[in-house]
Amino acid sequence: MEGDLRTHLVQYFEEHHKLVEAGALQLLLSDHQPLIVSRELIERSEEGMPFVTREMVERLLAQRRRSVGAIPSVPLGELASRAPRRVLPFELLAEGFSGPPVATQPIAAYGALFHSRYLALARMLRGRPALPNLSPIKELRVSEGAASVIGMVREVRETPQRHHLILTLDDESGSVEVLVPRDSPGARVPILPDEVVGASLRFSREAGRIPRALAIERPEIPASRAVGRAPRARRAIFLSDLHLGSRSFLTEAWGHLVDFLRERGPHPELAASIDHVVIAGDLVDGIGVYPRQERDLAISDVVEQYAELGRRLGELPDRLSIVAVPGNHDAVCPAEPQPPLPANLTKGLPPNVRILANPSTFALEGVVVEAYHGRSFDDLIPALPGASYARPTEVMKRMLQMRHLAPIYGDRTPLAPLPRDGLVIDPAPDILVTGHAHTYGVDRYRGVLLLNASTWQAETEYQRMRNISPVPARAAIVDLSSLALVSLDFSHGPPTVQETGA
Ligand SMILES: [Fe+2]
Repeated sequence: MEGDLRTHLVQYFEEHHKLVEAGALQLLLSDHQPLIVSRELIERSEEGMPFVTREMVERLLAQRRRSVGAIPSVPLGELASRAPRRVLPFELLAEGFSGPPVATQPIAAYGALFHSRYLALARMLRGRPALPNLSPIKELRVSEGAASVIGMVREVRETPQRHHLILTLDDESGSVEVLVPRDSPGARVPILPDEVVGASLRFSREAGRIPRALAIERPEIPASRAVGRAPRARRAIFLSDLHLGSRSFLTEAWGHLVDFLRERGPHPELAASIDHVVIAGDLVDGIGVYPRQERDLAISDVVEQYAELGRRLGELPDRLSIVAVPGNHDAVCPAEPQPPLPANLTKGLPPNVRILANPSTFALEGVVVEAYHGRSFDDLIPALPGASYARPTEVMKRMLQMRHLAPIYGDRTPLAPLPRDGLVIDPAPDILVTGHAHTYGVDRYRGVLLLNASTWQAETEYQRMRNISPVPARAAIVDLSSLALVSLDFSHGPPTVQETGA
């Protein structure tokens, strides 16, 4: 596995235009959180500094030891012998929630959040050949003829007659309006407010003309990247939106899932190869989430709903390692990134359950998984022409292009004003999993496996009213050594294999 994690780290530094020295890499691989440390190194390193040296890693690890206390790492003897790093079945790489806001004034706190987003995404865009002659917005000069900028999109408007786009882009130095011609490649993918893009510009010498964007460049997933692969053919099963406490919880389908995982149903050999369960939020139905929800509830006390969650997860074999993030129905602050559930709600959960923040990035057998509930579908689907809840993986592709899970501020997804934007997708995952849409979608994009995990709740009155038709009781089972996928359908009884084409 060391080889795979090594490749992952080298690629990660390459993406940020850094060369990592062999000694620095070795030291990083000996740490128990190599990707978190790598990200911190990139954030702290100077812009023009092309190398990551062993001294830089040593300095940072020493600082982290001082601030966090003793961090376990691979014993030095093992490091010296260059023995392969042991693959850990589970490693937490990053949680989106980074603690409460530091600034007390909301405007300053949101300012810090957007500044952090700009810095993280601009870092990915800098140095691209498609963005020649990069310049701070304030220093753009018409006389230069051409230049490139990296900006956060403040506004997108259309010209009344020809329907060209006019973008207002902001960077740390100022703002500029640019014209994106209607039929140009830059206008082909919708541009959303608050995403960070690069634009290569050509200036007109005519007075009063705004610059024209020749190309729009997004942070994106690198086109050629080796995907992390586990050394052994163990599998993970992906679920979402259990909604325990709802009258519509699919007790029977869940029973078939329990039987399957206990190797009492069809495909016992497949069940025996599963070590991990990932649940992408909405663990319980909650209370007061939508109007007159009480009519849909079988358990109207939220503490009792989590007790029921504990009982249901306790039905699964206790050899499984279960990872879950909260969703918008769970009893935590709804602003994203959401913190993990509080201890008073999780104390009844079995000991093999780990509750993380939403979103969270972790490695299962070395395969990097980003789990996000998916509330931002509610903003991205109306904003992207042709997007729908029936095809959530199309929206997930856009998230990867933007390298952001929920860019739009001020609409239905509340954003928490944290000093670090925990919704930036960094590092690039091998698997991106979401829920929320209550449908089932699988796809691949530039080597990333996209999963919109299915719900275990039948259609509710509220969903009928909103024209949402769920695709419940499907399970995505992924071989972590090859990322090959099997989809099982539990909606009609014991599981049947479903063809998905992904
Ligand atoms: Fe849900």
